Amino acid sequence: MEHTEKQNERHQQKITVQNKELIFTDASRTLLECLEAEKIEVHYHCRDGYCGACRVTLNQGEIVYPNGEPLAYIGENEILPCCCKPITDINITVE
Ligand code: FES
Repeated sequence: MEHTEKQNERHQQKITVQNKELIFTDASRTLLECLEAEKIEVHYHCRDGYCGACRVTLNQGEIVYPNGEPLAYIGENEILPCCCKPITDINITVE
């Protein structure tokens, strides 16, 4: 009998960071996890949207915070990778 693979919607966004291109798939829960999996170092502390340590600059694209807006203060073009996910292809700068 044939095993039917579940065709769940594939959400794959391209992340451009420095000179690298990564693919964000549902295997990563957050942008931070995806960056770490690719050995891109991002400073972090709480990993929960409180401290702001992980902030990076979003140059292009859109992200969402699945667990609600984070509490840490961030500038207008900054995002917190520890608690966000890209919903479009994005381009970010990690300081
Ligand atoms: S690590 Fe604290 S806000 Fe991201």
